[in-house]
Amino acid sequence: MMSAGLDPCQRTVRIYFDHNATTPLAGAARAAMVRALDRAGNPSSVHTEGRAARDLVEAARRQVAAWLGGEPDEVVFTSGGTEADVLGVVGLARAARGAGRLPRVMVAPIEHPAVLGAAEALVAEGFAVERLVVDADGRVDGADLARRLAGGGAVVAVAAANHELGTRQDIAALAAMARAAGWWLHVDAVQLAGKAPLPPVVAAADAVAVSAHKIGGPAGVGALWVRRGIDLAAVSPAGHQERERRPGTENVVGIAGFAAAVELADPARYAAVAGLAERLEAGLLALPGVAIQGRGAPRVGNTVNARFAGARGEAIVIALDLAGVAVSTGAACTSGSVKPSPVLLALGLGADEAREAVRFSLGPSNTADEVDRVLALLGPIVDRARRHR
Ligand SMILES: Cc1ncc(COP(=O)(O)O)c(C=O)c1O
Repeated sequence: MMSAGLDPCQRTVRIYFDHNATTPLAGAARAAMVRALDRAGNPSSVHTEGRAARDLVEAARRQVAAWLGGEPDEVVFTSGGTEADVLGVVGLARAARGAGRLPRVMVAPIEHPAVLGAAEALVAEGFAVERLVVDADGRVDGADLARRLAGGGAVVAVAAANHELGTRQDIAALAAMARAAGWWLHVDAVQLAGKAPLPPVVAAADAVAVSAHKIGGPAGVGALWVRRGIDLAAVSPAGHQERERRPGTENVVGIAGFAAAVELADPARYAAVAGLAERLEAGLLALPGVAIQGRGAPRVGNTVNARFAGARGEAIVIALDLAGVAVSTGAACTSGSVKPSPVLLALGLGADEAREAVRFSLGPSNTADEVDRVLALLGPIVDRARRHR
């Protein structure tokens, strides 16, 4: 696995600090995909080639299930984290309503757009969608949740780790509250996967979404774990694959890469990354006018969301890119104007403050030297960004 490579013009050695966006493809995942590419066969076909493809998919399902701490028949392969979130939220909501529960869905306001969009889509089906209260570090307010749960409903959706902040929720506690009140809990574990063990999350939740390209696998494949016994409603009505839960011919190549990545996704590798993130955070806080978002909450060890008062995050991202460093803002660029990150707005930041943020997300192949080089670059880059605001 590589983090630093030459840029496309072969001039500078790049530093990759954007692992929450996507991770470099692991060599073992690439090799497994190349082997799968050379096989013909649709897993639904009864002939030898088809059965070989089916064997590959089912072996991968067992590997993913073991990694999650679930059973193979609880794993539904999807086209990635987004589809797994949509299937989890919408599929659980429809199943809950079918089982006679009230059509209410609750989401944290800092969820990934995949979850927020899935919940909003349910409004057209008659569901009421409520946003939970979070504190200034992004933690779900337990008292607010308890009050809302008491009214009865279908699904609560909360991410185990936030994509912009790295902040973690106490999934076991939230799940216990939801279960006691008769709700199902969907957990987006896309940003927790590989960084912390998943079985405790799976043990607590009713559905859990993961994505291969955040753990060294390819983009375009992921999975939803659904607790056995829940009659998950398919979102797409056509086709029989994945036990009627996710139709469409399986992405055999992607699934092979996903399973290989799972074998490498040892959270111990991320324990070392936490030390680098701490080094980065200490260096950032030593710069004038820097605040770290989500610092008061437990976080996955790799993510540092820094706000540079008086500078535009976007200007810093561009300047760092030109200097050979890949980082990101949480802001979305739509038709030339940059919208502030909804996650940071939900923490209580103003729009201008939210535009000052930059997310650094590290991975196992980063080094202390890279951290120091980025810190050395940042001083003058931030000064310039402040002058030209
Ligand atoms: C928390 C979270 N959920 C869902 C997704 C979507 O995953 P995918 O890119 O595989 O669709 C992402 C991707 O950034 C994410 O960070």
